Parts: sequence; C-alpha cells; structure tokens
Amino acid sequence: MTPSIVKPAEGKLGILIVGNGAVATTFMTGVFMARKGLAKPIGSMTQYDKIRIGKGENKRYLKYDEIVPLTKLDDIVFGCWDVYPQNAYQAAMYAEVLKEKDIEPVRTELEQIKPMPAVFDKNYAKRLNGDNIKSCKTRWEMVEAVREDIRRFKAENGCARIVVLWAASTEIYVPVEETVHYHLADLEAAMKADDREHVAPSMCYAYAALSEGAPFIMGAPNTTVDIPAMWELAEQTKMPIAGKDFKTGQTLVKSGFAPIIGTRCLGLNGWFSTNILGNRDGLVLDEPANFRTKEVSKLSTLETILKPDEQPDLYGHGNDEDTQYFHKVRINYYPPRNDNKEGWDNIDIFGWMGYPMQVKINFLCRDSILAAPLCLDLCLLSDLAARAGRYGIQRFLSFYLKSPMHDYTQGEEAVNHLYQQYTILKNAIREMGGYEADEEMD
Ligand SMILES: NC(=O)c1ccc[n+]([C@@H]2O[C@H](COP(=O)([O-])OP(=O)(O)OC[C@H]3O[C@@H](n4cnc5c(N)ncnc54)[C@H](O)[C@@H]3O)[C@@H](O)[C@H]2O)c1
Repeated sequence: MTPSIVKPAEGKLGILIVGNGAVATTFMTGVFMARKGLAKPIGSMTQYDKIRIGKGENKRYLKYDEIVPLTKLDDIVFGCWDVYPQNAYQAAMYAEVLKEKDIEPVRTELEQIKPMPAVFDKNYAKRLNGDNIKSCKTRWEMVEAVREDIRRFKAENGCARIVVLWAASTEIYVPVEETVHYHLADLEAAMKADDREHVAPSMCYAYAALSEGAPFIMGAPNTTVDIPAMWELAEQTKMPIAGKDFKTGQTLVKSGFAPIIGTRCLGLNGWFSTNILGNRDGLVLDEPANFRTKEVSKLSTLETILKPDEQPDLYGHGNDEDTQYFHKVRINYYPPRNDNKEGWDNIDIFGWMGYPMQVKINFLCRDSILAAPLCLDLCLLSDLAARAGRYGIQRFLSFYLKSPMHDYTQGEEAVNHLYQQYTILKNAIREMGGYEADEEMD
C-alpha cells in the first residue's frame, strides 16, 4: 500500500445546485434529516457501501470514508439557482415527493435556501414560466454573472470548496457542432458573439463552475460538458467533470439486466421501454425537442452492452433494416402519477434454435427518491476527485450515469455494463486510497 495522495476534506463543501425542483429538494431535505438522525441516506454508496481491500487472509471490507477522506454530511452547505423564486421548503412542498412529516423537522434549514436568479433562455425549456431570471444580454454575461454568484456564495458561507451539480430541467437537444464545440477558443468566441443556437444556458453554468475551480456534474442528458471544448477547459483548470443523466430507474434496470442476456449469449429482437411520469420533469419532457435529448441518452445504454457487429446472430436482427434489435424508449406525461413513475419494459429475446421468449419488467419507482442518493455520491466523489488531482472526464462515475461521457473523438466507447462500471468505481476508490486496483469480483 502506498499512502493516499488525496488532500484532506478540511472545511466546508458548498454544493451549488442548478435547479430547485423535485430532485434537488429531495436531496437537500434528506441530507438535513440524516444530519439530525431523523432519516437514513439509503441508496447512497458513499454512506453504506464497503469495498474489499487486500486479498486472501488479508482482505478487509471498508467503507469509502475509511479508504479515502470524504466530506462529512455535517460539512455540506447548500445553495441553488432556479427560474422560480420559491425557497427550498416551498419547492419541496410543491414537488410533493416527500411527506410533510419528513420536511417539517428541517423547515428552517430549507427556508434559508433561496434560489439565486437563473441564467435561462425560454427556447431551451418552453414549458417553464418562472421570472427569477438574470437579465444578461449575452451568453458571456451569463458566464460572468454565475461566476460572481459562485464567488459570493463561497465567501459568504466560508466554504473551502465548491461543487456545482445540474439538477435542472432537460434542455432541448444541442447536437455537437464541430466549429463551436470542439475547441475552447471557438466556444468562448460563440459565447461572446451570443450564439444562442449552439450555447445552451447550461454551458454557461459549467464554464463558470470550472473557471471558479469547482467540479461540474451534469445530471440531465444535456450535452453541456460532453464536448471537447469543455474537456479542454477542465484540463486547463484541473477540474473534474461528470455526466450525463442520472441512471436511476429504468436505465439502471436495463444496464443490470442486459448483461444477463449478453453473458448467456441469448438473442435479442427488441426492447421496448415506456414510462408514465407526472412531475415537472415530465412536463418539460413532453416537449418533443426536450424529449429528444432524453431519448438519445436512454437509447445509448444497450448499444455498448449488446453489440450487433460482434454478435450478428444474436443482436443483428429485429428492426426495419434488419441490422440490429429494435430499441424504443417512450416517456408519457401523466400528471396523476407526479414523481411516482411507472416503467414497463417488454424484452423480446430468443434462445436455442431461435425460439422466442419474453421478459416483462414493471418498475413502480419514485424518481427523486432514486436520484437523491446519486446526487450525494456524485458531489462527494467529484470533490474527492478534485482533491486527488484528477481532472477532465471522471470515467469512474459512469456507474451513476445513463449516458457516460467518453472521448468520442478518439473512438473511445462508453462503458454501460453496470458490473463493469462498479469495478471501475471500486478501483478508482482503491487507487485514491493508496491501495492496489484489481479485477476480482466480490
Ligand atoms: N429523477 C430522476 O430519476 C432523474 C433521472 C435522470 C435525470 N433526471 C434529470 O434531473 C433533472 C431534474 O429533475 P426534477 O425531477 O428535479 O425536475 P424539476 O422540474 O422538478 O426541477 C428542475 C428545476 O430546474 C429549474 N430550471 C430549469 N432551467 C433552469 C436554469 N437554466 N437555471 C436554473 N434552474 C432551472 C426548473 O425551474 C425546475 O424547478 C431533470 O433534467 C431530469 O431529467 C432526473
């Protein structure tokens, strides 16, 4: 074992969340409740999971904070931005994810969190009508305004470090445009020229965070930091980036179930996934341009687990062109369900001599309950990565993400297989703790 090279987690960690909606308020409320011993942070691996260290007689299972220095829940300070002015208590009540009895004990803490005015462009989320918005004339002014917010928040709250987490609405799909998104100088020029088509507001938050020495995490499927220009900025500022799209319900199941088909060499004709969802996220995703961003992200999961080009007999048939299994994903906005999403998966598989079979999965989940522990882990582990001197795309965080970032300019493939992602995560923690990485399953 070599000594850990990670700087200690001294002082307060400011977690600045873009968005003060269902996910953000469920996350914040849970942390405050856990601090008071009134709730347990279930689902959070940084709080519960144990990793094996050493082998044979010497093996031990340790919690993450016994391997690496992690920020304690007591040392977290929250802030946020939103286009709606309601404080976090009002927003948590509006979201109706948590019962009043689980919010009231931390009402005072939540009431103190008042969203800073957002940088926003209605063309990127037409269904939102809030007025808590900064009056910036250009994208570059947006960047400067957010940078100022981060500096002020850090000073006023005596924070040693900041992490910025996007838990705001999904923006419309911004395809990667080489002339703007490949080089930092071009992206900066586009921001200064107020190129609203290619520069999403989320890019202004990300640019500001990285420039202020804060890691940036993209929890929505937005392409924000999934562009070479942002990788260049992250490299320049030595800051970690992670994204995109929290892997919570249906896609978590998909990336865990697809390996069953793949490892047993069963065939796949088609996988149809549909959902009903009634929260504000569902409302925004009801707009086709916003849904497109989500669709691209959700579709990418299977492609690197069940590969038609490597196994044409198993995965090379099923769609119109008969080159690949049929994969369809739908989200239906259905208000009565609010945050309690219901997902159905119909999986058409085939076995020995091509005989067809079906698998049906019906997941009655709670979107924000699944997302909150991911927010905590992604923030704590991004802060850890920064203290360990890791920067750029944090591949070890792919475990938490539906559409993990990878360097597509170099032909790199994302790892979507849940168990491979878990191995990568554990090895990164081991290495940051000064232990040897290994491949053994446990
Ligand atoms: N809950 C899940 O399981 C899950 C999984 C994957 C991804 N996500 C993503 O997480 C995000 C948050 O989900 P949610 O259910 O909390 O949604 P929500 O609608 O309840 O909250 C999002 C908030 O972001 C605000 N917002 C939008 N644009 C903004 C901007 N430019 N600046 C500041 N605030 C802005 C909105 O006003 C809203 O209050 C969504 O993009 C969603 O797709 C959620």
